Amino acid sequence: MSDKELRVSKIRDGTVIDHLTAGQALNVLAILGIDGSGGESVSIGMNVPSDRLARKDIVKVEDRELSQSEVDVLSVISPEATINIVRDYEVVDKKRVERPDEVTGVVSCPNRNCITNADEPVASRFEVLSDGLRCGYCGTIVREDEVASNLDAA
Ligand code: CTP
Ligand code: ZN
Repeated sequence: MSDKELRVSKIRDGTVIDHLTAGQALNVLAILGIDGSGGESVSIGMNVPSDRLARKDIVKVEDRELSQSEVDVLSVISPEATINIVRDYEVVDKKRVERPDEVTGVVSCPNRNCITNADEPVASRFEVLSDGLRCGYCGTIVREDEVASNLDAA
């Protein structure tokens, strides 16, 4: 790749979340609970040209790997995403996200009366639908475009 094409520099160690649905980068940061206050080094590309997709977003987080729950929720808003683990500048692992049957944690149920929002040690659990999530406890639907605004406070 030529210098002219390189938009976001390579990272030494961390995770490159590539082929994100264009426009989803900030929602991905929200899923990861990253708002800049934690001191992480993060690079973001939005609406950049891609071979595989017409346009994509890309997020590079240094010194951080993602939990399975984070990857599961990410797959709901960005089904084509690739998770690349980088160590010492090399991509040592590359995985396409897979849409799971259910996601636990990370997303919170918008129904205030849901047991997952009571003072009980009940973790959230949602069934994954084609266009959103359904709470496994109360049945409330969180549409795909509502996921980012219904995340557990980090
Ligand atoms: N990357 C990075 N820092 C590194 C190594 C890779 O930021 N030290 C980024 C690359 O810029 C790319 C992504 O991680 O956006 C995946 O890298 P690589 O597998 O080398 O690129 P491609 O072969 O183009 O990936 P794919 O086939 O998944 O499109
Ligand atoms: Zn609920």
